[in-house]
Amino acid sequence: MRVLIVKDYDEMSKKAADIVAELVKRKPNCVLGLATGSTPEGLYSELVRRHKEEGLDFSKVITFNLDEYYGLPGTHPQSYRYFMNEKLFNGINIRKENTLVPDGKVPIKDIEKFCKEYEEKIKKAGGIDLQVLGIGGDGHIAFNEPGSSLSSRTRLVALNEQTIKDNSRFFSSVDDVPKYALSMGVGTILEAKELLFLANGEKKAEVVAKAIEGPITSSITASALQLHPKVTVILDEGAAKMLSRVSFYKFAAEAEEKIGMKLF
Ligand code: F6R
Repeated sequence: MRVLIVKDYDEMSKKAADIVAELVKRKPNCVLGLATGSTPEGLYSELVRRHKEEGLDFSKVITFNLDEYYGLPGTHPQSYRYFMNEKLFNGINIRKENTLVPDGKVPIKDIEKFCKEYEEKIKKAGGIDLQVLGIGGDGHIAFNEPGSSLSSRTRLVALNEQTIKDNSRFFSSVDDVPKYALSMGVGTILEAKELLFLANGEKKAEVVAKAIEGPITSSITASALQLHPKVTVILDEGAAKMLSRVSFYKFAAEAEEKIGMKLF
């Protein structure tokens, strides 16, 4: 696991954009896995800037989003489809048909089939080359709440109280927050070829330390990232505050610069 500690949110976003842009240039038809939420907003606006000012080309890129609130149509301003259109897709030259987000309005009876097909589409596209991830206050990745199997697949999940409370900041009241979501599983995420895990702010410090340095446990589903061979973690100073191996991470990051090679 590469752990890069940077000064602030802006630097985290730019460093993350460097990794995404490098892939898009090297493999123009790459498959990106994307997350929503406050964490990757800066990354997306930096990618939009690089498209507009530097011609970063997304015309052949395919994307799969991690999750979507169940019950919200893509036209709802709090849906993840809407978020992605607003924050990224409308600002770059990606083909809309190449942007896949789970459909929050799929009828209950079709959910299982829908989820199976979502996974099949990922496979058919050649698998996810790079998956962007944030972490929830309860340690979740995508909407894999504490207790989710570490080999879970795309499915309908119930959101726990903390997530509903955390995400109520985007809704007019906590009662308006959907209680269910369609989410890629931890097992699905671990199949991506490379992971890019981002976190910022002191509020995340404790859960980030548990995820990165604690035991692998379904109580903190982000800890499953320790099982993946190619993870880059980018944290701002706030989110890194409770890590115990900071001097080692800094040493390894300097070594990378010296030898010009990523040390996972
Ligand atoms: C969203 C997602 C979630 C978020 C997490 C953190 O697609 O997968 O796991 O990454 O809830 O959200 P923020 O970034 O808003 O703190």
